[in-house]
Amino acid sequence: MTTTAATLADLDAARLLKGLRHTVGNTPLLAVHYTFDGDPRTLFVKSEQLNMTGSIKDRMALHILETAYREGTIRPGDTIAEATSGNTGISFSAIGRALGHPVRIFMPDWMSRERVDLIRSLGAEVVPVSAEQGGFLGSIRMSEEYAAGNEHVFLPRQFANEGNVRAHELTTGPEIWWQLRFQFRTPDAFVAGVGTGGTVMGVGRFLRRVAPAVKVYPLEPAESPTLRTGSKVGRHRIQGISDEFIPHILDLSALDAVVDASDGDAVLMAQQLAGRLGLGVGISSGANFIGAVKVQQELGRDAVVVTVFPDDNKKYLSTALLQDEPVQEHFLTPRIRLTGYEAFKRVCHTCCDLEDCTQKLPHGA
Ligand SMILES: Cc1ncc(COP(=O)(O)O)c(C=O)c1O
Repeated sequence: MTTTAATLADLDAARLLKGLRHTVGNTPLLAVHYTFDGDPRTLFVKSEQLNMTGSIKDRMALHILETAYREGTIRPGDTIAEATSGNTGISFSAIGRALGHPVRIFMPDWMSRERVDLIRSLGAEVVPVSAEQGGFLGSIRMSEEYAAGNEHVFLPRQFANEGNVRAHELTTGPEIWWQLRFQFRTPDAFVAGVGTGGTVMGVGRFLRRVAPAVKVYPLEPAESPTLRTGSKVGRHRIQGISDEFIPHILDLSALDAVVDASDGDAVLMAQQLAGRLGLGVGISSGANFIGAVKVQQELGRDAVVVTVFPDDNKKYLSTALLQDEPVQEHFLTPRIRLTGYEAFKRVCHTCCDLEDCTQKLPHGA
């Protein structure tokens, strides 16, 4: 490509990226009201299922691609290759194709049918990786082998890329802070299930800067306590979290205690969120809600506890989410009754950079 053509292509990418920014983030914060053993309480939840492709991963994909364009580590026409258990693949496919890139996704072959079809429908190629080929770790290895020595392949490396944490430090964290400040509240705790750890690390880093006493809890499936044991143990059904290893970008020493949620409890909670409140969210959203209920139990019924709904329910229609789930004695969902929610979307309108606003009072509040 000649210099002039490259410059024109860069300008095109800058214009496209600017437009895409309006489709990602700035999601509503929900005040979800519920009773626990009959006692009324409220949790705050960021509605990440309302992002462009229906998941929180759009924030990370957009930020990493914007940074790569700014730093010149991706060129127009380069192939984007990534190992992912689903949502990241969907985000890079949609945003990558919008920017004109071929996209190749390496994915364990046991992920839900909907995830594979969604990625293919977005014009990307899916490379299924079997358990014999190494499953999730095999997907990462194969994506790295594919990129090795090929300067026309861009590898986002979500598990190791600091840009993943920065995406949430720059957007999700400040949005949560300001949406709470407009309600004259400050957070006491943030809880999030760990896939790459980008959400919990990035939001935690921002909130700790503006509210140093805030507690930040990573969450994992009770059936597969990888964070607590340091290695892959057991099996679970909460797709998107707990992927066989502790990700590079996760620093457990910077976080509070690991919280867990049983996968069956998470399924029942997600079913209740959809069935009672019309919030069509995925299984990890149910797990995050259970985790937030546990943290509020510990900190006190009036504690301002925040979590996220990472994705919507459309990728799980063929999974346990739509099946009868047996209740076990230790589950919390039977003690929880969802009673309603309010949604807030107000963020700072007087500055262009939310991060700069952190020391100011809510404008016009
Ligand atoms: C459904 C779902 N929930 C939770 C997460 C965890 O988010 P993070 O990777 O930021 O830790 C993911 C990540 O892919 C996900 O797909």
